[in-house]
Amino acid sequence: MCGIVGFTGAMVKSQDISSILLDCLSKLEYRGYDSAGIAVISNDRVEVRKAKGRLSNLTSLVEREPVSGFTGIGHTRWATHGEPSDINSHPHTNVSGDIAVVHNGIIENHVAMRRWLEGKDVTFRSETDTECIAHLIDFYYEGDLVTALSKTLQKLEGSYALAVVCRNEPENIVVARKDCPLIIGRGEGNNLLASDVTPLLEYTREVQYLDDNQVAKITPEKVEILDLEGNVIDLAVSHVDWDLQSAQKNGYEHFMLKEICEQPYAIDQTYKARVYGEKLDLGEITKTVKDARRVVIVGCGTAYHAAVVAKYAIEHYSRLPVEVDVASEFRYRDPLVTEDDLCIVISQSGETADTLQAMRIFKEKGAKIIAITNVVGSTVSRVADHVMYTQAGPEIAVASTKAFTTQLMCVFLLTCALTKDEQKQKEMMEELSTLSQKAEAVVCRQEEIQRFAARQFNKTKVFYFGRQSDFAISLESALKLKEISYTHSEAFAAGELKHGPIALVDENTLVVASCCHPKLYDKMDSNIKEVKARGAKALAITFEGNDAFEGVADEVFQIPKTDPYFAPMLSVIVTQLYAYYCSVNRGNDPDHPRNLAKSVTVE
Ligand code: F6R
Repeated sequence: MCGIVGFTGAMVKSQDISSILLDCLSKLEYRGYDSAGIAVISNDRVEVRKAKGRLSNLTSLVEREPVSGFTGIGHTRWATHGEPSDINSHPHTNVSGDIAVVHNGIIENHVAMRRWLEGKDVTFRSETDTECIAHLIDFYYEGDLVTALSKTLQKLEGSYALAVVCRNEPENIVVARKDCPLIIGRGEGNNLLASDVTPLLEYTREVQYLDDNQVAKITPEKVEILDLEGNVIDLAVSHVDWDLQSAQKNGYEHFMLKEICEQPYAIDQTYKARVYGEKLDLGEITKTVKDARRVVIVGCGTAYHAAVVAKYAIEHYSRLPVEVDVASEFRYRDPLVTEDDLCIVISQSGETADTLQAMRIFKEKGAKIIAITNVVGSTVSRVADHVMYTQAGPEIAVASTKAFTTQLMCVFLLTCALTKDEQKQKEMMEELSTLSQKAEAVVCRQEEIQRFAARQFNKTKVFYFGRQSDFAISLESALKLKEISYTHSEAFAAGELKHGPIALVDENTLVVASCCHPKLYDKMDSNIKEVKARGAKALAITFEGNDAFEGVADEVFQIPKTDPYFAPMLSVIVTQLYAYYCSVNRGNDPDHPRNLAKSVTVE
């Protein structure tokens, strides 16, 4: 999704403004983009450089046509309105080129705004919704950018994180947000902004998370935050303790592989954040979960799959009914939620538009919300009543891996808290304490999976199936493979095989069967035989010591034995590694899969 950055003030480490902006934009590349641009106040002009394609195109352009100055903004665009092109790239300017704007989000009434402005003889250059913002600011500008932007915001419908510079105010960047993240970094003699924390880490750890309907004037020495009526707001400064190292590749070929390998540590950290001397301590959450009559969990994509795993575990151990849904469906289906429900939202970024809308529904119904998120200070964390942070550190690869397994640790800890039987709870806690070591044992065998992928990456269809939580993990495994290898992959409940999917099975098919529920081994055995009889190759993932699938599946990968409801945390590492190596074998870039964005802040 689009990314924005901005910098004003004293240069750092003898960099010039364009290299600072390009450096910050490079930290946002992981979010997915198709063009990039910068605007710098230079020699009493607003100089814009923008280019379609990778950031390297913009870098080359800036090398050919350098800009100097102390104040600038930048953008990586993920096209929504208008194809990826130089013209449609941000920043966009007013007609005279004195005002430049970068924007994340979508202006829903841009057609009406465009007509209104065209009626005032404004000529548009691009097809974007954003360009109307630059012209509106120009229309309202009477010597004060904050006032002009505030008036403009009253005309806009939709979502935005905006940064604006103006030739007449050469040290200022004015920003605003509604439903899209915007973070201000407080430096020394300089201040910055970005749409997420990672670009700021090189320059500062002190940040302010702008709230909806707030405007900020950022100068080298000062940040003034205002509401839309112009009242000054005292916004807390938070300290970010993510280290820069964790946002770098550290010798790994790709962030995705690094993040897969970091999982044992991240799982351990997430466990330790809530367990003291083997005792589960969820603080305030303990009381909230005690009163729960029913649990509702929402998320999108991978986060939704964590919710599906949670449903099986919570229902089994707590005997409470659990409803799960993808947030984009939940928000539009007039859901049944009451104040007695315990609502859980799962979101790595904490900024996913649909998930935030689902949270608003929970709030309206008076239900208590627990957020599971990776980003301290994210919108999700601020809207929720309680937060469980996944201790994954920055997740840079677009395809989620360590965020997912740490989300699972959070939902398993919640499962323990919801479980009434104390003995059972004790056993579960003991088992959870072993999972990071067991994850390490799987990660250590990555070369076996690499060899398997080298043999099987050419399959045109890959189906994942399993029963119960093995079905849940099949969903996540299929998503991972399609995201980064572009292979047609699907997941289904193994019992559904004969109800349709088997029609697709032939010798070009690989079936990955998750078989971690001992009571269902026989059923899975039959399903594997059914696909094998139709020419498919089969990989079975099962527990150490279970040889039942040897000679049945073509390959068997045994993971350390654990509670079947917790097994997804280990079996998914196998399928993440398989997806990663398939992607690499196909010559793809697993960190930047086509068409995908890391953080989906628009619908
Ligand atoms: C898949 C993936 C996406 C995200 C989804 C939700 O690898 O990363 O499916 O899980 O976009 O994002 P968050 O968790 O940030 O709400």
